[in-house]
Amino acid sequence: MKGLKIVATGRYVPDTAVTNDDMAKLVDTNDEWISSRTGIRQRRLAAGEPTSFMAVEAAKRALEAFSGEAEEIDLIVCSTITPDFHTPSVACLVARALGLKGAAAFDVSAACSGFVYALDIAQKYLETGAAKTALVLSAETLSHITNFEDRSTCVLFGDGAGACIVQPSDGRYASILGADAETAHVLYATIPYPPTPFEKEEALAKGRAFEVVNDGFIHMDGTEVYKFSTEAMPACIQAACEKLGVQPEALGLIIPHQANLRIVRTAMKRLGLPEDRAYLNIDRYGNTSSASIPLALDEANQEGRLQPGSLVALVGFGAGLTYGCALFSW
Ligand code: COA
Repeated sequence: MKGLKIVATGRYVPDTAVTNDDMAKLVDTNDEWISSRTGIRQRRLAAGEPTSFMAVEAAKRALEAFSGEAEEIDLIVCSTITPDFHTPSVACLVARALGLKGAAAFDVSAACSGFVYALDIAQKYLETGAAKTALVLSAETLSHITNFEDRSTCVLFGDGAGACIVQPSDGRYASILGADAETAHVLYATIPYPPTPFEKEEALAKGRAFEVVNDGFIHMDGTEVYKFSTEAMPACIQAACEKLGVQPEALGLIIPHQANLRIVRTAMKRLGLPEDRAYLNIDRYGNTSSASIPLALDEANQEGRLQPGSLVALVGFGAGLTYGCALFSW
């Protein structure tokens, strides 16, 4: 058993849809600027529902689509950069809400590449027999770390969750994970801990990995991230294809992280593939970080875009700067 089979999928997005015109009431922007540069037309933003609530709802829908029993789940891996608590993990909160007793449960932090990282970890458990049925999910409330006064970032992000149930299979599987961490400073959000009675400003400044604005919001050098993404996305798809001994042309569907329509278009061009080989829903949800791939996966599944036996590529890139691609048979 080397491969994996996604046997059920589910998603949740908040009801509140915020259009580009709505954003233009908050900051100096307009629909034309946002849609022409990113492909985003609206995003869903949480109206108070925590990350774990969205994760639970997505997981419930995946369980509804699962032909087995919830008790079979023995591993829960959740990717998030916006957990409700430092501890317990979102994975544990999902286990609690759904009564999934006895499953190993933990979170993974790899930003927008997080779902691919989480799935790859689950695949290793399944391959070794350490787990038999995994719930792999991503949930993000990016609105909690978005500065709604910063037009260069606030128009990009959205909230949501996606989940899938995974079992071992003898199908094909290859993955590439990586991080170009020397560029970690181009995309970050700090955790603004309250100062302790022992903290000294000099020690803090000296100890930080790089200079930051310590406000808890996302800070990004958009041009640098754009350059990284347009190179990392096609490169890791190509590398994963080489591992399997296939050409990118053999891919039935690519489900990319939905950060920017132009990034996906550039990557598809570099791979020599038509644009419609990539699944896109960024116009409706914006960038939901690690939730974007499982959200898109569930939509593609419901729309019948995934043919049995065809090769699927999930590809993510984001803060870290991380990247990852998982290739497997549907
Ligand atoms: N509305 C209007 N103007 C805006 C704006 C907004 N929402 N946000 C920024 N601008 C302005 C800037 O202030 C700047 O103005 P200036 O030239 O007067 O200083 C100008 O637009 C920048 O425009 P441009 O250089 O054409 O933008 P761009 O084509 O580089 O697009 C991004 C900007 C952010 C859309 C693009 O860099 C990007 O998508 N980067 C990747 C981001 C990403 O995907 N991050 C997440 C990865 S997981």
